[in-house]
Amino acid sequence: MASRILTALCALTLGHTAMAIPQWLAPRATTSVSSWLATETAVARAGILDNIGSAGAYAGSADSGIVIASPSTDSPDYYYTWTRDSALTLKCLVDLFKNGDTDLLDVIEEYIDAQAYIQTVSNPSGSLSAGTGLGEPKFNVDETAYTGSWGRPQRDGPALRATALIAFGQWLVSNGYTTTATNIVWPIIRNDLSYVAEYWNQTGYDLWEEVSGSSFFTIAVQHRALVEGSKFAASVGSTCSYCDSQAPQVLCFLQSFWTGSYTLANFGSSRTGKDANTLLGSIHTFDPEAACDDTTFQPCSSRALANHKVVTDSFRSIYTLNSGISAGVAVAVGRYPEDSYYNGNPWFLCTLAAAELLYDALYQWNRIGSLTINSVSLAFFTDVYSSAATGTYSSSSATYSSIVSAVKTYADGYVSIVEKYASSNGSMSEQFDKSSGSQLSARDLTWSYAALLTANLRRNSVVPAGWGETSASSVPATCSSTSAIGTFSSATNTAWPTALTSVSGSSTTATTTGTGTTTVTTTASTSTTKTSTSTSCTTPTAVAVTFDLIATTTYGENIKIAGSIAALGDWDTDDAVALSAADYTDSDHLWFVTQSIPAGTVFEYKYIRVESDGTIEWESDPNRSYTVPAACATTAVTESDTWR
Ligand SMILES: *[C@@H]1O[C@H](CO)[C@@H](O)[C@H](O)[C@H]1NC(C)=O
Ligand SMILES: *[C@@H]1O[C@H](CO)[C@@H](O)[C@H](O)[C@H]1NC(C)=O
Ligand SMILES: *[C@@H]1O[C@H](CO)[C@@H](O)[C@H](O)[C@H]1NC(C)=O
Repeated sequence: MASRILTALCALTLGHTAMAIPQWLAPRATTSVSSWLATETAVARAGILDNIGSAGAYAGSADSGIVIASPSTDSPDYYYTWTRDSALTLKCLVDLFKNGDTDLLDVIEEYIDAQAYIQTVSNPSGSLSAGTGLGEPKFNVDETAYTGSWGRPQRDGPALRATALIAFGQWLVSNGYTTTATNIVWPIIRNDLSYVAEYWNQTGYDLWEEVSGSSFFTIAVQHRALVEGSKFAASVGSTCSYCDSQAPQVLCFLQSFWTGSYTLANFGSSRTGKDANTLLGSIHTFDPEAACDDTTFQPCSSRALANHKVVTDSFRSIYTLNSGISAGVAVAVGRYPEDSYYNGNPWFLCTLAAAELLYDALYQWNRIGSLTINSVSLAFFTDVYSSAATGTYSSSSATYSSIVSAVKTYADGYVSIVEKYASSNGSMSEQFDKSSGSQLSARDLTWSYAALLTANLRRNSVVPAGWGETSASSVPATCSSTSAIGTFSSATNTAWPTALTSVSGSSTTATTTGTGTTTVTTTASTSTTKTSTSTSCTTPTAVAVTFDLIATTTYGENIKIAGSIAALGDWDTDDAVALSAADYTDSDHLWFVTQSIPAGTVFEYKYIRVESDGTIEWESDPNRSYTVPAACATTAVTESDTWR
């Protein structure tokens, strides 16, 4: 009973009883965006897992842990594994895992095993011994080298892979698996950090695989990887002097992408340089602990907001879908206005990046307690709040509230556009037609789904750990062309401890002892990683949600809960979670269970009654819906229901 008592105590200290859900925690009135996201997040999670070998429904011929970009094998053929797309996807899965989605552990381990091997595969970019092979952008799904002509090397891949592995490595270290982090994960990360330190100051292809030059996205994610790589090295008893020597120089070079009014996407191209590359750069280097720093183009910085306007505006007049939509109202966003691939169209992941950047900024303003408008960002703010004026607005002011609310509406508008052009079953391809809105190019694009999930997390103020921006935002007085040599060696140890699986494999366990008392133990591991070090407010990553259900049952009947999230079995009755009858009495027909669920998750659910012969009876419609609170210090809540 320990955790149920704890739940009650927490509720009491918050001034509420455990039995009734306090009104401020009750599901908020849902907008169309909220309710769509409640189901779409499950589609997106399943869409990602379908695209990972070898268990994925669409990735059956891919090796274990290999992420395909899309199941599409012709027009276009995306049935390959890209280092960038895979790393961004796995970073998303690791963040979900750290927020309580423990079912993802196996696929994370399989991805890491696959990366350890693929680093060793010699390819047209080179080999591991020289480091150069790490810059190869894509491989065949059987982990052999792709030898056709391609835009190579692409130098963002190793940095993004390091970031994904560091996120998981941090979890290992904070949960007592430092040896595993040191022996399995760090050697892979070290190769990638060594690559970045040695080659960041050489040209390569951009994330869209078209421009050979220097790319904002690449340089931004390289800076982040070196900074957090150095911190991670220390946590596994090592050092990364090559990270420390290069990171400030990478940041120095990054400044040159600022044109004064927007962020240039690439050096080495004749285009305008207005490109969603730069929105993606800001969201993938977002640090929830950072100030609104211009030097690192943080989402709430003047630079990032001014650039958001310039980039999104560049698509207003060129897509028929956007015609008649006024400034400050969301539009469909593509890669860059000059794009001619499939005749140039909006992309789901670019439209979602425009939303995510704004959700990140909202998080930062709320944490900081104010927002500042200056001459650089004024035009952005004027679009959403016509009387905006330069100045600093405290979160207690009416102006702040109005602006924040307008930005939230603006951000949700981008998600609404994605909702409008996604399939009715939730599937998302790469692009949607700029005139008709119908889906184009590769179907079920893995990155589209990852982009949906990260945007949803940020919308709910669920943020990843900081990467160290607060001590890495100051720019050296002079920039130099530099490089440093690290260590390249094959990372062959993939002997994961079995204990790791059992410790984190279930977030809640219930054991019935001989005396009939039930102990419900909520494993602390999934909620140990705090997402924010703000002194005034710490939002927990996961919340222990207790479902109390009054249901009259007869001997042999059991009650389970099924719902739209992994913690509730993704609506699969085979994976539905059993409630306990340990507190059921003649006068109180109580069934209960506690599940750890990421803060901010919006989901639907129903209870099911399972007869002794296995027959299942569902509760009557409609589906129930619930929003897990993402609030200061709320780590446990109780939802009280009655069978219907
Ligand atoms: C290398 O760094 C220097 C100094 O920041 C910069 O001027 C130059 O453009 C960089 N070159 C490449 C290819 O990154
Ligand atoms: C979802 O709908 C699309 C068409 O809009 C279809 O191609 C796809 O097969 C559907 N996916 C599933 C899982 O039913
Ligand atoms: C409840 O959710 C399931 C799974 O998404 C869906 O198939 C069903 O139609 C929903 N029921 C209602 C009444 O909306």
